[in-house]
Amino acid sequence: MPTAPAPVLPAFARADAASLPLHALTPAQIADWLAGPGAEWAGWLAASGFEAGLGEVRLLPGDSGLAGAVVGLGPDSARQRVRFGLAKAVAALPAGDWHLAGDLPEKERREAALGWLLAGYRFDRYRPAKEPTRLPRLKCPEGVDAETLLAMAEAEFLTRDLINTPANDMGPAELQAAFEALAARFGARTEAIVGDDLLARNFPMIHAVGRASARAPRLLDMRWGNTGPQLTLVGKGVCFDSGGLDIKPSAGMLLMKKDMGGAATVMGLALMIMRLGLPVRLRVLVPAVENSISGPAMRPRDILTSRKGLTVEVNNTDAEGRLILADALTLACEEPEALVISMATLTGAARVAVGPDLAPFYADDEGLAAAIEQGARDGFDPVWRMPFWAPYEPMIEPGIADLDNAPSGGFAGSVTAALFLRRFVSTPRYVHFDIYGHNPADAPGRPKGGVGQGARALLHALPQMLDL
Ligand code: BES
Ligand code: MN
Ligand code: ZN
Repeated sequence: MPTAPAPVLPAFARADAASLPLHALTPAQIADWLAGPGAEWAGWLAASGFEAGLGEVRLLPGDSGLAGAVVGLGPDSARQRVRFGLAKAVAALPAGDWHLAGDLPEKERREAALGWLLAGYRFDRYRPAKEPTRLPRLKCPEGVDAETLLAMAEAEFLTRDLINTPANDMGPAELQAAFEALAARFGARTEAIVGDDLLARNFPMIHAVGRASARAPRLLDMRWGNTGPQLTLVGKGVCFDSGGLDIKPSAGMLLMKKDMGGAATVMGLALMIMRLGLPVRLRVLVPAVENSISGPAMRPRDILTSRKGLTVEVNNTDAEGRLILADALTLACEEPEALVISMATLTGAARVAVGPDLAPFYADDEGLAAAIEQGARDGFDPVWRMPFWAPYEPMIEPGIADLDNAPSGGFAGSVTAALFLRRFVSTPRYVHFDIYGHNPADAPGRPKGGVGQGARALLHALPQMLDL
């Protein structure tokens, strides 16, 4: 089995290294700059048509080579996209060390630095670069906490690597190995519940979903930290979703290596929490399975009895995520004081509703929801609140069992999936994200492929959510 290469960690240039200035300008600032510090390049910038569009770069010639560069921040209306502008600029800069010049507000300096780090991501496990690519490096801007940004970038790289690794090299066992490697790095304790007997008895729906695969299903459990409020993250770890007997058509199956995107994202969030040493007691639960087809596969209209005791009629074997999460959420809620957050690539309906850029989330608690929305603005990690719409509860009740995993009618698929999960949760302090986890087209700092959603919003929100 090929082992994963050691990941390339994001890094800043050393603070004492010689570096070139990168002057960040909005279109409104060009004239002043050219009349002052940038006077010697006024002719060159005018002749080359520099307009300070977002991410637009011009190198500045000096007496003995390069004197620096200018980068456009776009008009003020585009300034919340500073991160992407800088990420775009990195590709146009020669290798070497750089520092940000100009008077950007602190939040923009932070975003610029994060964009720069994220632009360093490569997924080259299956096509390694012939020579190591030398990327330009940035000095951590003044007043910006380097450690926080490095943790954010490292977490994002981990999430992307886990999602991008194809299912043949990222099955339940390999996801467990990555989970244990993450835990080991920070001295967290782990437990893996594997094996037909143990799983069938304690987590019957995780077993039912995963047992048809040659790669055994399991529940991964990590704990870190001894003091502070309890935070439990639950991530959907479907390493490949064929749909099961209700097999997906090829177009629908094509992206399903990413169906462990929830697990990848909570692992990224856990990395940030542990690397930054947040004062919480952290638990991470990942039901890791492959939704496969063989003799023991669960069948449409099978009725499962969950860990909680609720019975579930399987009306579609492709609605597997809510089944495995239900048993993991039941376990999470056996610690009554926990704040519980689940993240999952749960429904195609979420993608239809909000597309790939927004992370839809559900929370009954207004305080938690407000904290997340504020965290999303602070971290520029956009989210959109969705309703746990109680009037739709009857849609998930099939009559013959307590619950239906796949209501007919095609209404509000993401909402009914969230309502299903909520039936297994016994605390009002519950948040659920129905993420997409995949960027459909190359964008600055976000290449096509796996992408984290919501984790940085949550990191920003945690102090508020947990009273830290
Ligand atoms: N993993 C899929 C959801 C998914 C599909 C997420 C495409 C992102 C992109 C999930 O297991 C699934 O198949 N859900 C079904 C549920 C339905 C059968 C009730 C869906 O959304 O179609
Ligand atoms: Mn499915
Ligand atoms: Zn799935």
